[in-house]
Amino acid sequence: MDSDLFEPYERLVQIELLGRKVRVPENNRLLRCFQYLSLRSISYGDFCWNGDCTNCQFWYREPGEDAREPEKTALSCRFTVREGMTVTRLNPCVRIEGVNAPAPARNAHADAPRAAERDTAFAPPPDPA
Ligand code: FES
Repeated sequence: MDSDLFEPYERLVQIELLGRKVRVPENNRLLRCFQYLSLRSISYGDFCWNGDCTNCQFWYREPGEDAREPEKTALSCRFTVREGMTVTRLNPCVRIEGVNAPAPARNAHADAPRAAERDTAFAPPPDPA
């Protein structure tokens, strides 16, 4: 993970995101936290990152608030994550793999040794002649 993307953090904090418990970097804007969870979909998403487009809007409850409390809304690119908060809804533009979007398909070849490594690993010893 490219640490230049994130504000400095020492630990991950737990939040609830659409009914799932997830751990994200403290001291970061919530959209960065979504990026931490889903690098590709957020990095390539339609976001201005500066409060203009509203595509990053989300609805939430403060830590300790119960479900009878009305939800609040904010822009995740402007909102610093709060440990224990509950994100109840997301703008449809916010697609987080494994949460509200399919998890990325595993590349079946990712763990296979490259052809050159494979071929040398199993090559017979050189002919002494
Ligand atoms: S990303 Fe555009 S308003 Fe947050």
